[in-house]
Amino acid sequence: MSIAQPALRLQGPDADGIATLWIDCPGKKVNTLSLDMMPEFAAMYATIAANTAIRGLVVASGKDTGFIAGADLDDLGQVDSASKAERLSLDAQEGMAKLAGLKIPTVAAIHGEALGGGLELALACRARVASEHRKTKMALPEVMLGLLPGAGGTVRLPKLIGLTAALDMMLTGRNIRAAKALKLGLVDRTVPQLQLFDAARALCLDLAHGKVAPKPKTPVKGQVQNFLLEGNLLGKKLVLHEARKKVLKQTKGVYPAPLRILDVIDKGTYEAEAKGFGELLMSPQSAGLRHLFTAITALKKDDGPQTGSVAARQVTRVGMLGAGLMGAGIATVLADNGVEVRLKDRDHASIGKALDYARTVYGKARRKRVYNQAGVDERLGRISGGTDWAGIGRAEVLIEAVFEDLSLKQRLLAEFEALSRVDGIFATNTSALPISEIAQHAKHPERVIGMHFFSPVEKMPLVEIIVTDKTSPEVTATTVAVARKMGKHVIVVKDCAGFYTTRALVPYMAEAIFMALDGYSLLDIDEAATKVGFPVGPITLTDEVGIDVGVKVLKTIRKYYGERLQLPPDISSKLLEEGRFGRKNNKGFYKYSNGKSELDKDGKKIIDDTVYRHLPGGKGSKHADFAEMGDRLVLGLVNEAALCLQEGILRDPYAGDLGAVMGIGFPPFEGGPFRYVDRFGARTIVDRLRKLEGKFGKRFAPCTLLVDLAANNGKFYA
Ligand code: NAI
Repeated sequence: MSIAQPALRLQGPDADGIATLWIDCPGKKVNTLSLDMMPEFAAMYATIAANTAIRGLVVASGKDTGFIAGADLDDLGQVDSASKAERLSLDAQEGMAKLAGLKIPTVAAIHGEALGGGLELALACRARVASEHRKTKMALPEVMLGLLPGAGGTVRLPKLIGLTAALDMMLTGRNIRAAKALKLGLVDRTVPQLQLFDAARALCLDLAHGKVAPKPKTPVKGQVQNFLLEGNLLGKKLVLHEARKKVLKQTKGVYPAPLRILDVIDKGTYEAEAKGFGELLMSPQSAGLRHLFTAITALKKDDGPQTGSVAARQVTRVGMLGAGLMGAGIATVLADNGVEVRLKDRDHASIGKALDYARTVYGKARRKRVYNQAGVDERLGRISGGTDWAGIGRAEVLIEAVFEDLSLKQRLLAEFEALSRVDGIFATNTSALPISEIAQHAKHPERVIGMHFFSPVEKMPLVEIIVTDKTSPEVTATTVAVARKMGKHVIVVKDCAGFYTTRALVPYMAEAIFMALDGYSLLDIDEAATKVGFPVGPITLTDEVGIDVGVKVLKTIRKYYGERLQLPPDISSKLLEEGRFGRKNNKGFYKYSNGKSELDKDGKKIIDDTVYRHLPGGKGSKHADFAEMGDRLVLGLVNEAALCLQEGILRDPYAGDLGAVMGIGFPPFEGGPFRYVDRFGARTIVDRLRKLEGKFGKRFAPCTLLVDLAANNGKFYA
């Protein structure tokens, strides 16, 4: 029988009466709060309370990796009823109350991540000191998992930093770094990492001697308005009312967690918090979001070649061919992560624009105090460029992002092979062209790979790596490592036209055009998508990506899939003829001026009505049937995703789920197309597809994998 190792260790008290509670979960890289730790915490607090020699307590992590990264999600996955989940929250609250109820001063020493339950534990201490290290981040990210903070956070945080700031943290889940935390009053002091423990101890001692002056009650500059609003009941109601309006606008009401957070804060009790937590944990939205988290964890183990024995090559220098929208974004993120980038474009103007792009992105980070001006300069210093190949031959990897043109990409690959170092990798960012065709005439097809980024690169979290039959395992491992170094999630897929993400997106985008041709209004089409949970609708997305770019992708898909992927009649030539390219040239389906959307008096985007002359159905003549429209948009995508798994383009459903949510905006709370099938059951999905097939044609014919799964009553995830 093995004896469970304790996660808590009490050190001291020292000569001044200060003891330290070290948290160090055995066998784990980072601390997480698990159910089996609860009795240990309770016993520990009882021991501390009983020891009269202890005059103050510092709570610190025994791990260099961080403070506490939150609750153990596996535990939450085991809970099968709202009442049990509520009990869990009540127990956690009780543990925190014991810490908060200690008669001695308590100070949390925070370095690294203090997230969710980790931050709630720190909030239950009397004071907090944080290290100024870049890795130090505090957040209540429960909302991103469809939950609310269930260990007292919804009650303690507003009391500590005020309602407005607390709402912002809880409704966005955003990370707060040390400097901002100090400004908000979330922590009492910030110090360099090396001084953290001593500073926490010193503060604890001061508190024990009653020395520390209470926090100023007068609100600091800029917070006066919030103070006035929050200082009374009416003001609180007003703040909550405005927040609710904003949440509803942003989420269309499809996410229950943020609305529930507002209800719970309104009530302001621990009971309301526990009840809310219990119900949210049972919601399908939370299950979907937690599934994504599991997918992320599972995919981190995929090193690319999946052999476990191939090491990635060290990459310190990347060549970037094409400094347009994508090239600029990719270079910016590479340099941000310590990689030297040499840009090559046809003209100097494009290089200049790319540098401006990087400057803007880094400037924003500086204003958010992620780094200072020296940090900006250091990053910009890593990017250089020109119109010739100078400096590119030395790069370990060349990423290509020139126009979407097969022969151009092939020609540039040949030029690169002629000058590159012996083992240089050519990674193409094509949106849909098969990588094997780009590599068709290559001398070294084993060094050619797809590296598909999404726009805007600095914001989109995914890279899709596309491997051909000839790509070498070392090249795959190296490219995956570069994408991870850029802070991206990675899926590795097999080569074909459109790979996974573009192929799955095409039926969704194409269906939008089918619906427009049917006579649905463009606004209704976008609304049908956002109602089911896509962050933006397909018409908006086309304007953002560029109508010309979309047309090129559709051409490629038409070429390779012919009749199989049924596409709407081509209306694009008329759109392009009249110079309608989307937001980038202020002329798309929607109205723009200076690159910004024109809005009506309700703040809604306005359709450019002149586009309806190309749509036989006219100006939205058809009454919206949102349920059917939603199904048309979702199910074509789901079916194509399943076909990609059936054909072995996808390695597993996890990659399909993560790729769809992070690459193309599949509703995150559904957890991805494969989990969507599991949630409703393959049989129901097949029935719904057949119904659409009967009405709209064979583009909705369910693929064999789905039909078989339905017949066997099977699931993608056990
Ligand atoms: P872009 O038109 O903004 O940029 C292309 C750049 O390539 C331009 O700066 C152009 O001057 C340069 N270029 C053209 N010929 C060149 C040559 N011979 N030598 C050097 N530079 C040359 O296009 P964007 O949007 O950046 O797309 C680039 C690639 O990325 C395309 O293959 C596209 O399909 C793909 N892609 C685009 C996405 C998007 O959202 N725009 C998303 C994912 C992939």
